[in-house]
Amino acid sequence: MLASMRNHKTNGIDTTDVIVVGGGVIGLAVARALSDQGITNIIVVERSLPGREASHAAGGMLAAQAEANENDVLFELSISSRELYPQWAAALLEETGIDVQLERTGTLYLAFTEEDEKESEQRLRWQSKKGLAVERLGRNAALELEPGISKHLRSALRFPMDVQVDNRHLITALVSSLSKRQIEIRKGTEVKSLRIEHGRIAGVETDSNTVLAPIVVVATGAWSSFLTDPDSRVPPVRIEPVRGQMLCLGPADRIRHVLYSPRGYIVPRRSGQVLAGSTSEHVGFCKDVTGGGIHSIMTNAIEIAPDVIRKAPLIDSWAGLRPRAEDGLPVIGGCIDVEGLYFATGHYRNGILLAPLTGNLIAEQMTTGIAPAMARSLSPDRFQAVSVS
Ligand code: GLY
Repeated sequence: MLASMRNHKTNGIDTTDVIVVGGGVIGLAVARALSDQGITNIIVVERSLPGREASHAAGGMLAAQAEANENDVLFELSISSRELYPQWAAALLEETGIDVQLERTGTLYLAFTEEDEKESEQRLRWQSKKGLAVERLGRNAALELEPGISKHLRSALRFPMDVQVDNRHLITALVSSLSKRQIEIRKGTEVKSLRIEHGRIAGVETDSNTVLAPIVVVATGAWSSFLTDPDSRVPPVRIEPVRGQMLCLGPADRIRHVLYSPRGYIVPRRSGQVLAGSTSEHVGFCKDVTGGGIHSIMTNAIEIAPDVIRKAPLIDSWAGLRPRAEDGLPVIGGCIDVEGLYFATGHYRNGILLAPLTGNLIAEQMTTGIAPAMARSLSPDRFQAVSVS
């Protein structure tokens, strides 16, 4: 456990126990998990407003099973984090009065082609074998459950445990929770570089001052590769942005489930709006919504629920940058070569889903000094070049 010191300022230099760089869902969840462990002298440094990047752009589906192609590390993480959500949402509601709108209706994964059905069958097989909740529905049963689905449906999988939250309410709740815990979120402040002294982290240089701390957590999503120290001693954590465009329609005819096909998804909100997504594009840091993006999302959404989508007015559109590490896995844990430096980034398509677990994994490693078993393959050191002799 850290020896606690109150945040204080001398000659314009701030000193605290932990700096979290990045105020997206991951940075906020990490700060909150640390405070659950009694570490409360934390400054979250956010270059704009909290949660305005990928966390804002997301759909909020906790699709641990519907999006899983295989039984791998990511799947185990996703299931574990999904299990944390009911308690996390309830605790946030009790603490802040903000309802993150955890909707438990579940997800339907739809098959419209023979190929889709093969994929569904395979998913049904390996997930049933693992004892997970998944049920095959014939066409009529699925249409009875969700009449807005296209009549071209062949069959569906029902994932009752793949629920959803409103990601924007989640950000508001996390910000409120941190504020109640007297954790500062320093908005509009950019971290320019990390400060490393004698092989360990000493703090950060921001665009307005120096903040000193023995522990720094980098949670800057798609921008995580840019943060280093003047001598470049930080291990190379390679994260690339993958653009996802989203459309918002409404008011729309009632849909109750999150509806997926292998090509797109529709997410109903309590407000009567529906989100339709998404694209996966490697276009650098460009967040444009494009004609091609709108066309492809609309085509896929109309395939899923033609009557609902065709008549619903389009009311908004946006794009976010998913942070993807080169092996597709999140980066969660401390660096061997720079003591006190942690990463919580690279959550790619699963930032909202993996937020509570990521907070817990970082807090556990920080307080025990040992990486939890579940996080061993997620270390930021895994990108170091392996020398071949
Ligand atoms: N998890 C949904 C997406 O990234 O589009």
